[in-house]
Amino acid sequence: MYFKQFLHDETGCASYFVASRQSREAAVIDPQRHIQAYLDLAQEREYRIVQVIDTHLHADHLSGNRALAAATGAVLMLHELADVDFPFQPLRDGQEVRLGQIVMRVVHTPGHRPESISLVLTNPIRSPAPSMVLSGDTLFVGDVGRPDFGGDEGALAQYASVQRLLRLEDYVEVFPAHFEGSCGKGMCGRPSTTIGFERRFNPVLQLSRTDFLASTGEVPPRPLNMAAILATNQGRGDYGWVGEGMASSSEVPSVSPTAAPAWIAEHHALVVDVREPDEFAAGHVPDAVSIPQAELALKLDRVPRDRDVLVACRSGSRSLGAARFLKGVGYDRVANLERGTLGWVDAGNPVDV
Ligand SMILES: [Fe+2]
Repeated sequence: MYFKQFLHDETGCASYFVASRQSREAAVIDPQRHIQAYLDLAQEREYRIVQVIDTHLHADHLSGNRALAAATGAVLMLHELADVDFPFQPLRDGQEVRLGQIVMRVVHTPGHRPESISLVLTNPIRSPAPSMVLSGDTLFVGDVGRPDFGGDEGALAQYASVQRLLRLEDYVEVFPAHFEGSCGKGMCGRPSTTIGFERRFNPVLQLSRTDFLASTGEVPPRPLNMAAILATNQGRGDYGWVGEGMASSSEVPSVSPTAAPAWIAEHHALVVDVREPDEFAAGHVPDAVSIPQAELALKLDRVPRDRDVLVACRSGSRSLGAARFLKGVGYDRVANLERGTLGWVDAGNPVDV
């Protein structure tokens, strides 16, 4: 068996290259949009990529699944519930995907998304029992994936899915699709773990079902450009340029909350508030326009290019990502409101509701 984990610092995601040293066949799981690294590895090590699998439809980064399948002739696989507009081989719970002697058993683990799966890997040459699980956005190191947009039903499903993975033996190694990022609040940053360690020390796994459901009540904001990314990953639009903008690490000037009122007046700046609509409704900088970060790429027509733009959020970090994205896609006159609306309020500035 050959196994390689790719860590993608710009997104906090991990992708995987799994191969049989006997049959020379390889699978890539959760490939990122830049597929060259997988192609290079396959060539260097003389493997043929025959399967491309996404553990779920990603909402925070563009998938390289179709590009990699097209470049290699590999079969593209997703869980049968995946709602996409392109052909794929549907996977079902319990199905065994073979890669030479390696067996990848599909475990349907809905909750983060309805079509989420985990892959339980067995290498019979070493043992008849599974040795590792690619846990997608179901189980993380120190956290579990957030139930996206599924409300209580999604949270219940996520709880059940995590419990299902915990039936694996303690020694089974866990390789998640994220090691940092917006898909979980408490990820430790380490790229892998074991079932036994998480069973004992993952704080979320210590919660009762009731407490788990209560803990998911507070839904984190949707990721930057989620709408455009999801549409692209579903084959319903091509917003590939969004990825380029998000990869930009352009520096953007920041404006302090105390200086902001004068700066806005002097520059005739438009304040763009990238928080969720309910956060905006609870109080915002006067005359700010609301464009939640998840919708930003699809609503660029509302962001002027010929005027200074001050991006605001709650505490200044979402807005920094959004401002960098705007800079990355060609907005020159963009600045970030330091410490966000909280800082704005603390500075004694007026607020509109
Ligand atoms: Fe995800």
